[in-house]
Amino acid sequence: MADAAERQADGSGPPGGSIAGGRRAATSDTASRDAGSRALEVVGVTRTFGALVALDGVDLSVGPGERRAVLGANGAGKTTLFNAITGDFPPTRGRISFFGEDVTELPQYDRIRRGLRRTYQHSLLFRGLTVRDNLFLASRGVARRRFSLLRPRGGDFAMAAAERLAGQAHLSRRLDTRVADLSYGEQRQLEIGMALAGAPRLILFDEPAAGLSPGERGNLVALLHGLPEHLGFVIIEHDLDVALKVVDRVTVMHNGRIFKHGTPAEIEADPEVQAIYLGGQHG
Ligand SMILES: Nc1ncnc2c1ncn2[C@@H]1O[C@H](COP(=O)(O)OP(=O)(O)O)[C@@H](O)[C@H]1O
Ligand SMILES: [Mg+2]
Repeated sequence: MADAAERQADGSGPPGGSIAGGRRAATSDTASRDAGSRALEVVGVTRTFGALVALDGVDLSVGPGERRAVLGANGAGKTTLFNAITGDFPPTRGRISFFGEDVTELPQYDRIRRGLRRTYQHSLLFRGLTVRDNLFLASRGVARRRFSLLRPRGGDFAMAAAERLAGQAHLSRRLDTRVADLSYGEQRQLEIGMALAGAPRLILFDEPAAGLSPGERGNLVALLHGLPEHLGFVIIEHDLDVALKVVDRVTVMHNGRIFKHGTPAEIEADPEVQAIYLGGQHG
């Protein structure tokens, strides 16, 4: 796997104006592989809402430490796919495995305990509390089963974790600032910090750059590049300047189906993808 310096170099993008900057070449999603060694294996997942088929037989396979972008027009089914993976809305049909274990029927908390995390398209922060308190609560929440309320060291542990997470989210100087007083970009950074609590193994980011200024987007890219090497993520992102810089592979969805998988360079150059995605109908 690429080291941090190499990833940083990728993040600045190759010369010639291309924004594709995947860390390493990868084979097709359907290439031979050992299913037990995959971080995430989505097989034939369908989700209906009444007569609407929001997901239609979706297959997706993400390796440990892999970083994947999911692109697609509004309504393509990207968030519904995340909801199926996390258990927010279980699939109507199909199977989901996490590090070799079938989690299709597991409650959300049990998936979190296994290291699955997500951020939402809409903020779920405690606006009246400080950055430190939000990160403390996130750490306490995921450590609940290991550090009971009867053991005060659990609180010390979560307080130390809050400061470490603030560093990872580039918010060390804002630890005692109330969420309501943070900029919008800082709030999105805090959501990422909260998703890093505990021992995440795969994080699903749902449009983390939405609404950010160009400067804040640059900071987000740096933050994503700075995440621990072993930590994989799947990022839904309309801004290709962000998405293609931080991932190894790209999956394009269209009308609830997987349209294609490829490297960032392949996807950026693909005329069919440009027609359905870059044609301006996304938002
Ligand atoms: N809870 C829900 N109830 C009914 N329809 C939903 C629900 N969630 C999503 N949908 C529908 O499923 C389709 C896919 O939505 P979504 O996954 O949010 O798309 P994307 O994230 O790609 O923009 C859309 O037509 C949307 O209206
Ligand atoms: Mg969405």
